[in-house]
Amino acid sequence: MAKMWDARFSKAENSRVNDFNSSISFDSRMFREDIDGSIAHAAMLGKCGIIDPAESEKIIEALRQIKADIESGALPIDPEAEDIHMFVEEVLTARIGDTGKRLHTARSRNDQVALDIRLYLRREMDEICALLRGLLTVIASKAEENVHTVMAGYTHLQRAQPVTFAHYILAYAQMFLRDLSRLTQTKARMNLCPLGSGALASTTYPIDRHMTAALLGFDGPMENSIDGVSDRDSLLELAFDLSVVMMHLSRFSEEMILWCSSEFGFIELDDAFSTGSSIMPQKKNPDIAELVRGKTGRVYGDLTTLLTMMKGLPLAYTTDMQEDKEAIFDAVDNAKICIELFTSMLETATVRADRLRKAASGGFINATDCADYLVKKGMPFRDAYKVSGRLVAYCIDNNTDFESLPLETYQTYSPLFAEDVYEAVNLENCVNGRLAYGGPSETSVKHQIGLIKEYLEK
Ligand code: ARG
Repeated sequence: MAKMWDARFSKAENSRVNDFNSSISFDSRMFREDIDGSIAHAAMLGKCGIIDPAESEKIIEALRQIKADIESGALPIDPEAEDIHMFVEEVLTARIGDTGKRLHTARSRNDQVALDIRLYLRREMDEICALLRGLLTVIASKAEENVHTVMAGYTHLQRAQPVTFAHYILAYAQMFLRDLSRLTQTKARMNLCPLGSGALASTTYPIDRHMTAALLGFDGPMENSIDGVSDRDSLLELAFDLSVVMMHLSRFSEEMILWCSSEFGFIELDDAFSTGSSIMPQKKNPDIAELVRGKTGRVYGDLTTLLTMMKGLPLAYTTDMQEDKEAIFDAVDNAKICIELFTSMLETATVRADRLRKAASGGFINATDCADYLVKKGMPFRDAYKVSGRLVAYCIDNNTDFESLPLETYQTYSPLFAEDVYEAVNLENCVNGRLAYGGPSETSVKHQIGLIKEYLEK
């Protein structure tokens, strides 16, 4: 195929070079953004008198048609094209002749690709934020249903202290709220327009970068044309933000996987969001959660790819940067599908309050409360801690628990024990007594849910 730059070359391109160099297989997904950018550029060229306003109109009209034709499938994207920018320009010129050749005045593919990726990711980030809000909605409603569902909270994966299922999953809500805040900040930094940076040194034409920035919904133009074509920080930031989202999802997935095992049995996944085994008829597997956990590694890999690709690159544009797209697209695609499926899996899962309560009863998770009881009666905490520890040992040896231990036995360990100890070690009381801000008490949990709902209504 004839090349745009044939004039300077004396040999045709080696066929393998064309394939190696081509990015059309992955950048064609930015065709809308590429065309929107070109429409803004053409409008600006016309307005500033750099090209004839009538020609500007003609270009815009043709670009709109090209976009519609690609969308409808009437115009298939040529896999032989070098990239989406070349493809659109070639079609434009084929359709409207010489006028089409004026579009690339005062522009380079270097600022064009930097623009396209920002436009594309900006839209994807909005979708990711919407998905995270959907996940928060599900967490908030599951929490509302489980404000009184007592369970053991764990440290070292050993039963530790009493909380509720609501409090537990609201911890994840906080993580996703921080993810949303990070994404919002990343988007704000990304929302400056590189168009007009040209190849690297802007242009001698009297362009209006503020106009194109405004037309494309940016907060303004990027300040330095060299930075404009060399910067990929916002892709790195996004890949990092998504890595953290995935890390959060992977932790939540890990819990779901444990919780739906027969050993825990805290939740039951819906059949529609589980899979069977090809050999073991009894199996119901948490594949979604496992895949989310697995894909986390892949998104971290994308971040590493981007960081490594950018390391030591000289200014300004170099083709290394063409490698940015597959990595960031992979991170975006996988994060989106993972948030989406995880949300549905959680939404349809059944919380087994009875199993949670049963596991909470068996682990002496009220041992701290027993010690605190003695402290409130005047014993120093370190002594109370020892008494409670001896009681735990006694209970283990005698196969009993704090709730069923006779008062006389309590009193052989300390005369401070009285009838009200049973109130103190009752798990529901233990939870609701934790009135400290941010704790598992009903009051605190309802406050947490209220804040999330307020956030979601904004
Ligand atoms: N396909 C290129 C990319 O994805 C577009 C920019 C090409 N610029 C250049 N001078 N080769 O980065």
